Amino acid sequence: MAKEIKNQAMESIISLAKRRGFIYQGSEVYGGLSGTWDYGPLGVTLKRNIMNLWWRHFVESRDDMYGVDAAILMNQKVWKASGHVDTFVDPLCEDTVNHRRFRTDHVLKDNGIDPDGMTMEQMDAAIIENGIKSVDGNPLSSSRTFNMMFKTNVGATFDENSVSYLRPETAQGIFTNYKNVVDNFYPDLPFGIAQQGKAFRNEISPRDFVFRSREFEQMEIEYFVRPEKWEEAFDELLAETHLFLESLGLPKEAIHELDVPAEDRAHYSKKTIDIEFDYPIGKEELMGIAYRTDFDLGNIQRDSGRNMEYTIKGTNEKFIPHVIEPSFGVERALMAVLTSSYREDEVNGEKRVYLQLPEHLAPVKYAVSPLLKNKPELVAKAREVYSLLKKKHGAVMWDDNGNIGKRYRRQDEIGTPYCVVVDFDSLEDDSVTVRNRDTTEQTRIAISQL
Ligand code: GAP
Repeated sequence: MAKEIKNQAMESIISLAKRRGFIYQGSEVYGGLSGTWDYGPLGVTLKRNIMNLWWRHFVESRDDMYGVDAAILMNQKVWKASGHVDTFVDPLCEDTVNHRRFRTDHVLKDNGIDPDGMTMEQMDAAIIENGIKSVDGNPLSSSRTFNMMFKTNVGATFDENSVSYLRPETAQGIFTNYKNVVDNFYPDLPFGIAQQGKAFRNEISPRDFVFRSREFEQMEIEYFVRPEKWEEAFDELLAETHLFLESLGLPKEAIHELDVPAEDRAHYSKKTIDIEFDYPIGKEELMGIAYRTDFDLGNIQRDSGRNMEYTIKGTNEKFIPHVIEPSFGVERALMAVLTSSYREDEVNGEKRVYLQLPEHLAPVKYAVSPLLKNKPELVAKAREVYSLLKKKHGAVMWDDNGNIGKRYRRQDEIGTPYCVVVDFDSLEDDSVTVRNRDTTEQTRIAISQL
């Protein structure tokens, strides 16, 4: 029952996202492409607002952070050195009759068994012991590993030397630029390099709307520290992460820390705290913060032959810095924002749906309407107010479709905090009605005070 209600909540949000121009299925017109999503006019603005807030919080407001924007395609040696070619794998099993493929840990989860900490062999044993079949009711094969990187070839020759991959994390574009930033800016330790951008993973079973996609966006920081200072930096960045999540308007009680056990951590991590969020689909990972030691810079030094050591200014002290990495998925942040701001209530006996988005994230801040769209004097005055607000706030929408009630409902659904209506009194007293999304209260305000 609880699961049904949760799924209903998810369905309502997916339907709103499509109906109101936030998120569409990728390539929908051709039947879709699984694990891909397109952002509509409101979705792209909401996503950018989240990304810009992150950039301001972690980069612009600090003096120890440097931004980069690296290429998505990288030399194949990057992914060998990073361990992704050998170890970036998920366990995959197959329906032995129709050959549909599944992620083994997801099969267990869907059957009420927690796969955390299990080896692939233990997962296979659990499937046999519990008589678990595929969703089509057929026996499942034993598991094998499946590398999640999208492989491609660069240039006109198709041989092993031209192989490249769509990056599965933005992090490596930071590590490969670490030396450039040090040589150009001489930062003192500790300092960080930040990047936002696309990442690609050939997920075996993309699901839960944008939560697990094959193409998604990351916001990552590699924070370089003295080896003995890693815990201090870890705690500081974890605290900053909580402040950032608060600025997204996420309820504190829906945010949880998980100290990831060694057997579940990524191959490069000595400590990871996952931040989990209570989504309608359950408690799931929103982001992670990992202590990556000197794993990446050490591997780059070994494989490239270039020195990755940092020299403490004015001394001969040299070492490879250690790294703390806060890694956010934009889609998971956006899904947390959408699901936690979704509200249903009743206004004048009618069901109302609205998004209680924080004002700084709302894609539209003000909607401006003339009370009647066939009265030129009202339209002219409303256009004046619209231009005034647009100059100040940018994200202002002109809305004269349908009656006022319908406009309010539409704006509520996209989370517009204020609707401004110009009526006949406005022509006399230069004031307008401002209607508040959350309270539905209407207040008379002078145009000059808007
Ligand atoms: N550089 C470290 C790294 O990539 P990760 O835990 O594999 O670590 C970091 O990914 C974040 O990226 C996750 O916490 C999640 O927010 C997001 N993410 C990972 N896979 C995703 C997927 N398939 N779809 C959407 N977001 C994903």
